[in-house]
Amino acid sequence: MTVPFRLSTRATQTHDQPISYFMQQAVENPDLISLAAGLVDPCSLPAAEVREVLDELLADPVAAQSALQYGTTHGYAPLRDKILDRAMSLDRTTAAGVSLSADDVIVTTGSQQLLYMVGELLLDPGDIVIAEAPSYFVYHGTLTSLGVRTLQVPMDEEGMDTAALEDLLVRLEKTGDLERVKLIYTIDYFQNPTGLTLSMPRRRHLMDLVRRFSKRQRIFVLEDAAYRELRFDGIDVPSIKSLDEDNAHVILAMTFSKPMAPGLKTGYGLLPTELVTPLLRFKGNHDFGSCNLAQHLLDRVLASGAYLRHVEHLSHVYRLKRDTILAALAEEFAGAEGMKWTRPDGGMYVWLTSAVATGPDSLFMKASLAEGVLYVPGQFCYVNGENGKLPKNEARLCFGVASHDQLREAVRRLGRAAAACSVAGAACVS
Ligand SMILES: Cc1ncc(COP(=O)(O)O)c(C=O)c1O
Repeated sequence: MTVPFRLSTRATQTHDQPISYFMQQAVENPDLISLAAGLVDPCSLPAAEVREVLDELLADPVAAQSALQYGTTHGYAPLRDKILDRAMSLDRTTAAGVSLSADDVIVTTGSQQLLYMVGELLLDPGDIVIAEAPSYFVYHGTLTSLGVRTLQVPMDEEGMDTAALEDLLVRLEKTGDLERVKLIYTIDYFQNPTGLTLSMPRRRHLMDLVRRFSKRQRIFVLEDAAYRELRFDGIDVPSIKSLDEDNAHVILAMTFSKPMAPGLKTGYGLLPTELVTPLLRFKGNHDFGSCNLAQHLLDRVLASGAYLRHVEHLSHVYRLKRDTILAALAEEFAGAEGMKWTRPDGGMYVWLTSAVATGPDSLFMKASLAEGVLYVPGQFCYVNGENGKLPKNEARLCFGVASHDQLREAVRRLGRAAAACSVAGAACVS
């Protein structure tokens, strides 16, 4: 007889990502066009640039030895300098102006590792994180695993509804729960999943609120700007981090995955100084340093100007793809009652609101799979809030990975799936 074992409490709180089943479908069915996976455009991955830099790096014995050796837990210092410079130039500010130094920059194994470690660093079971509704479902899974309560506030074209956030904070203060609020999580540029961006007035309001409601205990903002550099329309807005002049409240998480290559799995954080040492202790336990070779490579890509050129190229690539999917949606669903979608200025997601239910067991999902197209059911992006409301008629469409022809075909298939639902009648509306 085998002796039983007991998983940790955290393991029992850690569930498969709901999306896994659908990803599996895509792998098993090569004819399926997936608008579900949040992958980047494969054709623009910078193979030539990476090869050139790697050749150069490995041809230099000293550089090669350094890059192939273990690095530091904190991250490669020249890269951290360049990350800080880049972040400051994006915000048109100076490090002194926002009380930052390169020591406040930590290089991580993707920004996902930073998000996870921030959770470990700040959150105890029962603590509260406030996020937009809808939001990035992978992080919801992380928070559930940590035993954290996630509360969501609605969003609109201007991103998180900060008036609703204010109401929520007032309510939490009245019920004595304000001290459990540790973190406000926002994806403030071309949000995953909606493609929407937090407006400047809302950024200011958010900062006012965290300052005002940090009474007995500080509230942090976790600004997840994973998509910031993928802007293709409109004028850039400054980060929330740039409004945190004392470097007291905002943890900025960014990544090289989207603007460069996810395969490098290198992200970074700009943090309040007081959080750096405790966070590095966690990172020491996780991996005592992210892939050193990737960091040396990125350092050279940034130094040579290849990074900026690539980001500029990507903005062209994604604009065209955005235009293709929007044109296809307009053609397919023009005049269709209840159908609407967002128009992102960057990133890789369009958020579709439909007249029919889109959930994993819906007729629309079944018809879509039968037609050979996959999307993320919008309900995965909501945490069952206090009031238990779960919108069931939305979908995330990623235009990053599919080709132009595939995007057009995918939308035609969605159109046929929607038509099949209409024929089936009211049964599919819930
Ligand atoms: C909003 C958001 N944050 C963070 C990540 C994590 O990306 P990475 O760990 O590759 O930097 C992703 C990946 O899709 C994302 O969409």
